Amino acid sequence: MKRVRVRLGSNSYEVHIGSGILEQTGQRLKENWFTGNLVIITNPIVKGLYGDALNQNLTRDGFSVVTLEVPDGEEQKSLEVAGRLYNELTNAYAERTTPILALGGGVIGDLAGFVAATYLRGVPLIQIPTTLLAQVDSSIGGKVAIDHGQLKNKIGAFYQPKLVITDIATLKTLDTKTLIDGLAEVIKYAVIQDKELLTYIEDNLDKIKSLDESVLEEIVFRSAKIKAGIVEKDEKDLGLRAILNYGHTVGHAIESASDFKLEHGKAVAIGMLAAAKISNRMGILAKNELLRLNRLIQSAGLPTKLPNLEVTKIIQTIKHDKKILRGKIRFVLPKSIGSVFITDEVSLSLVEQILVDWNEET
Ligand SMILES: NC(=O)c1ccc[n+]([C@@H]2O[C@H](COP(=O)([O-])OP(=O)(O)OC[C@H]3O[C@@H](n4cnc5c(N)ncnc54)[C@H](O)[C@@H]3O)[C@@H](O)[C@H]2O)c1
Ligand SMILES: [Zn+2]
Repeated sequence: MKRVRVRLGSNSYEVHIGSGILEQTGQRLKENWFTGNLVIITNPIVKGLYGDALNQNLTRDGFSVVTLEVPDGEEQKSLEVAGRLYNELTNAYAERTTPILALGGGVIGDLAGFVAATYLRGVPLIQIPTTLLAQVDSSIGGKVAIDHGQLKNKIGAFYQPKLVITDIATLKTLDTKTLIDGLAEVIKYAVIQDKELLTYIEDNLDKIKSLDESVLEEIVFRSAKIKAGIVEKDEKDLGLRAILNYGHTVGHAIESASDFKLEHGKAVAIGMLAAAKISNRMGILAKNELLRLNRLIQSAGLPTKLPNLEVTKIIQTIKHDKKILRGKIRFVLPKSIGSVFITDEVSLSLVEQILVDWNEET
């Protein structure tokens, strides 16, 4: 088992990464001085796969467990569902010291995290992420949120978990599409900070796709370390943390211009290429690095062609994007693979030109 420590003063915690470690959850909780009651929040899919076993395991370790279920899907990240969970927590006699275990992907992590941050002004949160995206991204860093009307992820808090238990073996039941979706974020970490990780992904792509546990453990560990390092320097997202938005400016615009029919990871893949093309056009990123990234994204099974959306619609959406700072668009651009910079010097007309030229180029 590997450990990543997230150093945030009194809010510090560890991310435990290993195969089969879900079974040790009770032991880990006892080591962290938890006893008595606890609540698992999950969905029917994950409950069927891992929830019942986890429940039995915790019961054997002397915990008294209540499992709360929400249906599967992004639309569960709502105030209404949070409200229902508050009622169920009250009915289960949950107290200030009763930990909430978020067992599932990013949706469960964000929702259960939001509930944990707000119920009784905050109860201990344990993240148990079961998708690649949740393991490398959403379970670390303390951003918890629900969606509200047009405000996706905008009602929330910074609320760090007490512990993250990342069991690589849970990725075995993920469908390929969801796995590849999460892989886009791993490629993101490599481009922003770890050139060796990019080479590692290139060399082990087949093993990643065939769910080789030791390779998955390595990419999750390295990604978690990068995310933890960035969060440690900028917990509240006031500066450096913005580099995690690499690929997300154009990515979010494409996702929302497609009415969320295009998966997040696919949109981010295109967004990462867009930023790379912009940087190359500005004379910063070398052509061979752009082509290398293009090749990797393609062989990962992520899109490199712009989907059939109107460029003007994408540009309009970028204009409304949250990353616009005092009228300027904020972009994270690669200098080279493994290093990025933040700029507001990218003009919308350059972005438009890149999108118009896209499918004519390689
Ligand atoms: N808080 C953050 O910092 C942060 C960062 C990135 C994304 N997010 C949020 O994460 C969410 C997306 O997360 P996601 O991609 O994990 O989606 P998800 O939670 O919807 O999970 C994807 C699907 O996989 C299923 N699933 C989960 N674990 C499984 C397993 N082990 N085996 C089989 N199926 C499994 C889920 O039930 C779901 O159907 C979005 O709401 C996004 O806003 C948050
Ligand atoms: Zn993302």
